[in-house]
Amino acid sequence: MADTPDFHLYQHKGFYFISGIHSAEELDKLKDCEIRDTDIFTITYPKSGTIWMQQILSLIDAKGDLSLTDKQLTSEQVPWLELTENAKNFASAPSPRVRVSHLPYYLAPQGLGQKKGKVIYVARNPKDVLVSYYHFHKVAVMMETPKDFNEFFDKFMEGRVCGSCWFDHITGWYTHKDEMNFLYLTYEEMIQDLKAAVLKICSFLGKQLDEQQIDSVVKHCTFKQMKTNPNANYESVPESLLNHKNGAFMRKGTVGDWKNHLTVAQNEMFDQVFQERMRDVPLKFVWDISELKTCS
Ligand code: PPS
Repeated sequence: MADTPDFHLYQHKGFYFISGIHSAEELDKLKDCEIRDTDIFTITYPKSGTIWMQQILSLIDAKGDLSLTDKQLTSEQVPWLELTENAKNFASAPSPRVRVSHLPYYLAPQGLGQKKGKVIYVARNPKDVLVSYYHFHKVAVMMETPKDFNEFFDKFMEGRVCGSCWFDHITGWYTHKDEMNFLYLTYEEMIQDLKAAVLKICSFLGKQLDEQQIDSVVKHCTFKQMKTNPNANYESVPESLLNHKNGAFMRKGTVGDWKNHLTVAQNEMFDQVFQERMRDVPLKFVWDISELKTCS
């Protein structure tokens, strides 16, 4: 049996990565990598809808035809930019290079800030991010299993997780948005009206799909459909990387699950930090499903 790599959290230039899947040397090369006008990047903080965007982008490319996309893991169709092997191949990869990434703005390819390529930033309310990430830490072998929710809450608030601090991530990207070809989307607006979000993405990318093709993209990107899609659930990924017995990747897919996890004290502390850190950022979040008028 192959040895399991030594997965551990390490800091590179102030940002937490995971050894064994992220190499400092390759990360440094990405920053100076030439960006092409045809490049498309979806940027997320972990657990904010990355796989959802991977599924949407590959289906838009396939004009809604699932038979063209269901032979591969969703994450292989729209690969992670910063995983070591992908990072090594990025410079010579054929166009269009469509990638997802959790990198912070200051470590991402600098060409993006000169209006080269396109960036779709997907944000999710951070209390649900925290909860989703807690459960994912129990599934992902490369991440330390939390002792309990309280321990993970502290780690998340201190930014001692892969992806570092949620507040730094969103403010870093959002404050540079005018220097990029940039589309800001939220997980919650995708829950509210997925078709409207898909149309927005198509328009931003200059993709022309007919009504039937759009409907097909939407149909195959609902939580219900993706929950039963083995590729979106990373089912073929071995237990040495994902401990499937501890939970599904496609877990709840809703807004407001944080209410089932945070104590009153944790929630108050979160709100206080949120108010301080987001004071100068004009972004509003949806914290509960009841605030949405869902279309499904
Ligand atoms: S990762 O590990 O960073 O790539 O995770 P990421 O894909 O960003 O986030 C996983 C969460 O997104 C939810 N998800 C969805 N919700 C609603 N609809 C659709 N189609 C969808 N696809 C993925 C997924 O269930 C995880 O959230 P939780 O709250 O854990 O269910």
